[in-house]
Amino acid sequence: MTILITGATGNIGGEAIRHLLDRQVPLRGLVRDAAKASYLADRGVDLAVGDLSQPETLNAALKDIKTAFLVLPNLPNQVELECGFIDAAKQSGVKQIVKLSVMGAGELPSTFQQWHHQIEQHLERSGMAWTHLRPNMFMQNVRWLAQTIAQTGNIYNAVGDTPISHVDARDVAAVAAICLTEPGHDRQSYVLTGPAAITFETIAELFGRALDRSISYVNLPAADLKAARLAGGEPEWYLDAELELFACWQQGAGTSVTDWIPKILNRSATPYAEFASDYAQTHRQDFFA
Ligand SMILES: NC(=O)c1ccc[n+]([C@@H]2O[C@H](COP(=O)([O-])OP(=O)(O)OC[C@H]3O[C@@H](n4cnc5c(N)ncnc54)[C@H](OP(=O)(O)O)[C@@H]3O)[C@@H](O)[C@H]2O)c1
Repeated sequence: MTILITGATGNIGGEAIRHLLDRQVPLRGLVRDAAKASYLADRGVDLAVGDLSQPETLNAALKDIKTAFLVLPNLPNQVELECGFIDAAKQSGVKQIVKLSVMGAGELPSTFQQWHHQIEQHLERSGMAWTHLRPNMFMQNVRWLAQTIAQTGNIYNAVGDTPISHVDARDVAAVAAICLTEPGHDRQSYVLTGPAAITFETIAELFGRALDRSISYVNLPAADLKAARLAGGEPEWYLDAELELFACWQQGAGTSVTDWIPKILNRSATPYAEFASDYAQTHRQDFFA
């Protein structure tokens, strides 16, 4: 039975596709631009061109689908778009949705956590089988820091010396592949973390070692970080939401370590040092000016 993956060209959707192709599962990828996703078609993924902000494009993508993986980036209308997808899926006969959510959904007052919780609740009310994947911050977010590291040798952030249990997106995608294809995950919410909580100072050290260059962590006041990133062109709504989350983290909300990844994957969650070494090898040039 074909599984539909939204966010198929993205971080988690792309990795989930890799795992599912290894399992020889027939796949359809929902993509906005078929040309940009042609590499997926080359690997045997059926491409459906569609956009969650254009609900009329979803019917063809959902035809004959019983199981879907719902992934969407943070957008100002994320709740509306994901809930619209859930309604369209229900109407077209989908039976099961695995949803990419976030750690702290329904618990923290921060915007992203509230939005994801609203979508989770909508999915639960739909009557379809559901699984919520609630990862902590992805280790792969370092991609957003690489250019600054290349230019300055510094990581700038505003989370102080709070440890965070960053998770490898590859582990999250591997869990998604299992939840989409194996029984026993209906009505489950899995908080997914790395094997330890570490500070940004430690991350700077680990990347410094992996890249063989000196990298320091510089903690900024939240207002200074916001001003710098606004000047770099990031939208204010996104920065405000992220800073709300950082404030929660500073009170310890991102520190806990769970054992769902070892339980579901039957192996340890990837440690940051291993991720840094892998990422430094494949993206080395991004960290040098
Ligand atoms: N980053 C973190 O640390 C973190 C941690 C926990 C949870 N999360 C959650 O993870 C989610 C993001 O996952 P990700 O990192 O895999 O995202 P991503 O890499 O940014 O990928 C987003 C994908 O969504 C597609 N897309 C964008 N707008 C779309 C639309 N209107 N209709 C259909 N597809 C659309 C993009 O396709 P195109 O090729 O068409 O652009 C892309 O494939 C967010 O909901 C976030 O809250 C993130």
